[in-house]
Amino acid sequence: MTDTRAKLTFIGTGNMAGAIIGGLLDNGYPAERIIGTTRSEQSAQTAASTYGIHVTTDNDAAISDADVIILGVKPQVMKDTCAAISSAVQAQKPLVVSVAAGIEAATLDQWLGTGLAVIRCMPNTPSLLGTGISGLYANAAVTDTQRDLVDTMFRSVGITQWVHNEADMHTITAICGSAPAYFYRFSEALVRSAEQRGLSPESARQLVSQVALGAARMLSETGETPAELRQKVSSPGGTTVEALRVFDQQGLDDLVEAAVAACFNRSVSLTEELANPKE
Ligand SMILES: NC(=O)c1ccc[n+]([C@@H]2O[C@H](COP(=O)([O-])OP(=O)(O)OC[C@H]3O[C@@H](n4cnc5c(N)ncnc54)[C@H](OP(=O)(O)O)[C@@H]3O)[C@@H](O)[C@H]2O)c1
Repeated sequence: MTDTRAKLTFIGTGNMAGAIIGGLLDNGYPAERIIGTTRSEQSAQTAASTYGIHVTTDNDAAISDADVIILGVKPQVMKDTCAAISSAVQAQKPLVVSVAAGIEAATLDQWLGTGLAVIRCMPNTPSLLGTGISGLYANAAVTDTQRDLVDTMFRSVGITQWVHNEADMHTITAICGSAPAYFYRFSEALVRSAEQRGLSPESARQLVSQVALGAARMLSETGETPAELRQKVSSPGGTTVEALRVFDQQGLDDLVEAAVAACFNRSVSLTEELANPKE
């Protein structure tokens, strides 16, 4: 851990913030240096007992001593939340980190009163198990020390990749934020095919999830490319090549590209909508 003295305040302590808090605590970050906030008292009590940190519904008090605030509220309520906390943020000038999809650093800076160091992060749901990947973008006001601290925070729930061009966050969304769902969708189809051939739902699901886990580990641990690994399980005249031939004949590459383009384009339009929400 780079700097365990920094005081962290999570504005919104739901699923994603909770994953990061859990990762930080597991990696030895002192619980007394982390504060969470929620909208309701009930959520505050639940989060406090789950993570063993102080959780309050008083955003301004939680910001008053913070070195870093992590904005973990839903994108749709971000503008109102920023307006409500902007005075406290301007008084303290913490580093601002946002995990909200589709809201640009300049928009957050403007909503919070301007002049702030802002880092945008797009984590994905496997962060809940410590196997996530987060895409990160820092605005020009962020120092190297602040960047190192945030990199360490998100490496506590997986690995990190920084982009220099904020527009690349749309690609990060399409490939890292949303892509777990693509693998789940492909898995659903495989489970269905197994069931259609007579396997029980439990057996089909276990087979597919273990194959996914094994293939993912081969991809990340052998250093071989997806194409090299594919070739190793497709002997000429064998069974696997027959399935792969169908994928090629039916245009799998074009299908995947069309799906990624649709996700990317929605990320662009969502960013425009969130920057100018209807009053
Ligand atoms: N989940 C994912 O897979 C994922 C992936 C990447 C990015 N993200 C981003 O993470 C953010 C949070 O998503 P989530 O799934 O974690 O949502 P969530 O579980 O619904 O958590 C939202 C949290 O925000 C709190 N909140 C709402 N308004 C607040 C306010 N004015 N002040 C303080 N706290 C407030 C809620 O408190 P109450 O419970 O009291 O309402 C709750 O603790 C989103 O911006 C999303 O884009 C999520």
